[in-house]
Amino acid sequence: MINLVIGSQWGDEGKGKVVDLLSRDSDYAVRFHGGNNAGHTVVVGDKKYPFHLIPSGILNKRIKGVIANGVIIDPDVLIGEIDKLEKGGMSLTNKLYISPRCHLIMPYHKALDEAYENARGKNKLGTTRRGIGPTFADKVSYNGIRIYELMKPKIFEEKFIFQAKIKNKILKLFGVAPINIKKSLLHFKTIRERLAPFVKDTYAVLHEAVITGKNILLEGAHGVMLDVDFSPYPFSTGSNVVTGAVNIGSGIPAKKIDKIWVIVKAYTSRVGGGPVPTELFGKAADLIREKGAEYGTTTGRPRRIGWLDLEAVKFTCGVTGADYFALTKLDILTGLSQIKVCIGYELKGKRIAYSACGYEELAKLKPVYKTFTGWKEDISYVRKLSELPKNCQRYISFIEEFLKVPAKIVSVGAERNANILL
Ligand code: GDP
Ligand code: IMO
Ligand code: MG
Repeated sequence: MINLVIGSQWGDEGKGKVVDLLSRDSDYAVRFHGGNNAGHTVVVGDKKYPFHLIPSGILNKRIKGVIANGVIIDPDVLIGEIDKLEKGGMSLTNKLYISPRCHLIMPYHKALDEAYENARGKNKLGTTRRGIGPTFADKVSYNGIRIYELMKPKIFEEKFIFQAKIKNKILKLFGVAPINIKKSLLHFKTIRERLAPFVKDTYAVLHEAVITGKNILLEGAHGVMLDVDFSPYPFSTGSNVVTGAVNIGSGIPAKKIDKIWVIVKAYTSRVGGGPVPTELFGKAADLIREKGAEYGTTTGRPRRIGWLDLEAVKFTCGVTGADYFALTKLDILTGLSQIKVCIGYELKGKRIAYSACGYEELAKLKPVYKTFTGWKEDISYVRKLSELPKNCQRYISFIEEFLKVPAKIVSVGAERNANILL
């Protein structure tokens, strides 16, 4: 069985939590795109595990974690994550595999991300400044350096020096301090030694897993509204987020995916710039942000808040081919007297679809809302749908009917067991 988890909104929908839950029956948990701009949280009892590169399913005993070819890797972040898990008693030898095809996020990529953002000034995009865009740009312009080269010291040194010298010239144009090439090369020696035991042909591992009928859980990062093609570009991330990214980023044929789960947060959040049609401001936003602890898992930035945008999520269901959805953070809406849901967009008095909009249209349009009466009862201990307040049940049913996709999981708390399974 191959399950795929995809974020339906602007990221941070609670993918990490759902991945942890679904991976209980899995043999492999796989990251296949993005980099450490992702921050996926799993909460076990009173312990919080934020993952950026290692698949969130890794906490389950029988799981093997795979960082497949489509992921770009900041080696320091990856080593930090490995160290943390190993210090906590988990051995990752033969439990974590990293593709040699993964491109490396280099110090100059981070410096360039930062330099571009600063140069954009008030028009900054609000990237995570983790070097994501510049690394993907180098990948497609044949200037990238992969784990493959990192493992071959001589070739690596030559390529790194060539790239770093060019990047240092560009950094100089920005008036930014250059990368110390000598120091970096020494550091990469340590990195090579630490990562070497995990490097493996992940295509072969996953191909074998597919043909022998193993259970595989594919962990999407970000959200479809950030997809480099289907977002209001350039308010995007550097990778494709939609279903096809699986084939490209792991080598698993798209037609082998059995079920596609989209994760829908009961409201909207967004870190970074760009239009959010249902955005809330002032007290209403503060209330949800504080209650929902909506601060970036990666950057700690306060997240922008909005009502659930079903026009956008409906697009996600269509473009991904969603089979099910998991509704998360429903508990955060408890106590609101009214809850709004966007059921369409209107521009100059006419309906307009999400897919027909660029950033200008998304910024100008008016969301069409349906308003629900809220509920007051604490739902965080509820484990059966029938025991949810009636108004809460109405909210879930409406989303199902609107999306024409069934809900399978309703998450009512951050802890891994706080779920209603349908
Ligand atoms: P991801 O990037 O999609 O994996 O999501 P993040 O981990 O960045 O952000 C989601 C946050 O919400 C994390 O802190 C989770 O622990 C938390 N969370 C997930 N589901 C629920 C839920 O149903 N209720 C509450 N209160 N918190 C949740
Ligand atoms: P997870 O997997 C939320 C956003 C950034 C920024 C834009 C571009 O945790 O849901 P980048 O650093 O990727 O070049 O920034 O994309 N972004 C995310 N926002 N959650 C994420 O990942 C994100 N990954 C990228 O905030 O607006
Ligand atoms: Mg996140």
